[in-house]
Amino acid sequence: MVTESASPQKAEDVGEFFSSAWTAYKKCLEANILRHREFFSLLGKELNSRIPPGGVVMDLACGDASNIVGVLPEGVHYLGVDLAKPALDLASHKLKSVGIMHQLVQEEFQSFVKNYPDEACIDGALISYSLHHLDSASKGKLFVDILRILKPGGTLWVIDGIRQYGDTRDRWLERLWNLMSCEGEGHLSPAEMNGLKEHIWKSDFPESCPGYAAMALQAGFEMWEFLLEEGKGALGMFRALKRKAKGQSDQVCAASNKTNA
Ligand SMILES: C[S@@+](CC[C@H](N)C(=O)[O-])C[C@H]1O[C@@H](n2cnc3c(N)ncnc32)[C@H](O)[C@@H]1O
Repeated sequence: MVTESASPQKAEDVGEFFSSAWTAYKKCLEANILRHREFFSLLGKELNSRIPPGGVVMDLACGDASNIVGVLPEGVHYLGVDLAKPALDLASHKLKSVGIMHQLVQEEFQSFVKNYPDEACIDGALISYSLHHLDSASKGKLFVDILRILKPGGTLWVIDGIRQYGDTRDRWLERLWNLMSCEGEGHLSPAEMNGLKEHIWKSDFPESCPGYAAMALQAGFEMWEFLLEEGKGALGMFRALKRKAKGQSDQVCAASNKTNA
């Protein structure tokens, strides 16, 4: 089911990304230039150990869900949010083909989380390759809003560009572009590379590890843990944990330890 409630202006911006940069982004995925394979393989293990059977996994800026679909544990409910209708249509097709219960919502992800009517109802939240669009204050605010709707003991995972300690944004852009220009050769045309470069320079504003950790802890998460660095130090994955309820156990039932891969 795709629910539509997008803000027109944002949809237009994202529509532009979808038509101009989406094909190039998919080529990056196929050639594993941005290390999706490594990150999503680890995410699969994380989901298996942290999401209980029947649990809800919310994926903000889910795109076409092509990476997560192979690592979602059997029996979870997937809630994907994205502004781009064509991406959600592709996601719907993939999720149906593997029999994952799902709901897809066409909406700007910050307003979706802020206005989500229920509290403490999501077991795990993911935002991959999309948080960097927000400025620092908006990232912190998003963490506060995600914490509100996570269940006690719930997890937020982030996969994105991460600046090395002491990196300026320019230094990080150089680090990322070294990776992309080396590995993109032979996979993407010069025009596609230029389009991606333009998009990245305009919209990528990653934080450092200490920056993300401080944001998560200030938002009220109990713990922040760095999980994996990839792509010549330009990309990373971390998780932030919401405090458990009193007496809540660490056990995730073994029945969930199966993936659709
Ligand atoms: C680079 S893709 C990442 C897709 C997916 N998360 C992944 O890991 O491959 C960025 C996605 O974010 C969506 N997006 C960008 N800004 C958004 C926003 N403010 N609200 C909702 N979706 C957004 C785009 O439509 C696109 O599908």
